[in-house]
Amino acid sequence: MNAEPRRVEHLQTDKGSVPVYATGIVEQPWASYSATDHDVWAQLFRRQRAILVGRSDDEFLRTQDAMGMGSTRIPRFDELNRALKKQTGWELIGVEGLLPELTFFEHLANRRFPVTWWIRKRDQLDYLAEPDLFHDLFGHVPLLMNPVFADYMAAYGRGGVKAHAIGPDALVNLTRLYWYTVEFGLIRQPDGLRIYGAGILSSKGESIHCLESAAPNRIGFDLERVMNTRYRIDTFQKTYFVIDSYAQLMDATQPDFEPIYAKLAAVRSFPAGAVQDGDRVIQRGSGEGWLDGGDV
Ligand code: PHE
Ligand code: CO
Repeated sequence: MNAEPRRVEHLQTDKGSVPVYATGIVEQPWASYSATDHDVWAQLFRRQRAILVGRSDDEFLRTQDAMGMGSTRIPRFDELNRALKKQTGWELIGVEGLLPELTFFEHLANRRFPVTWWIRKRDQLDYLAEPDLFHDLFGHVPLLMNPVFADYMAAYGRGGVKAHAIGPDALVNLTRLYWYTVEFGLIRQPDGLRIYGAGILSSKGESIHCLESAAPNRIGFDLERVMNTRYRIDTFQKTYFVIDSYAQLMDATQPDFEPIYAKLAAVRSFPAGAVQDGDRVIQRGSGEGWLDGGDV
């Protein structure tokens, strides 16, 4: 038996049809994974690990090993949870897919990381428009073993609950911070730039593109700059923001965001690929191959 995710409905929005899933916590149906599911995991795992040595933050590879995540079979959430809970108090919970924003924030604030239980099909190894088990587990979970990053994720959850109460514009600003750090962030190591964002870590193409292509901008992290910058969800990023350390991220996000939300509400947002005055430019992108528009 191969279990199927329970989609509740497809919502028609201005961004097209969006799958909405049942929002409850589900037990990982480990026994129902097929041999193909395990093989898809194994292939993706081995492929990304080979690419990420020397490209991802060394801390990512270290924490992935430390929690016992391996290629041989789809990991069991309950096994990973033993290491994770002990290390930083985080816990993985199984979900059907993307959650409503407030539900997601409340989980993070309570150190519960929602992981999609199902894995992509064999013909989707290179790209999938929505998070699956490989993206969530391989990409997001290892760094939850790092105490500083673990605290950042919980603080982000609390900030999300707060932004949700302030209003939709605040949420847009906060979501950009998540996008340009947790999903598509780069970090400086003594020997060069490395990847820590899960959206990159789980993508073969972007793992190479973000470091080796001349097209994108690489700019030093600045909180307000990031929160004011639009992004595209359907192509490689036009700009990557670079942190020096997870402590820098934690420190920069400590202040109350409410005045920042108020300030940003009164200014025009920046296009995804535009370099701004005052940017700490590490590398200015050539813009080669960029599509016009499409930033949200
Ligand atoms: N300091 C933010 C606020 O006041 C909360 C936050 C912390 C947001 C860490 C993101 C990351 O809203
Ligand atoms: Co993600």
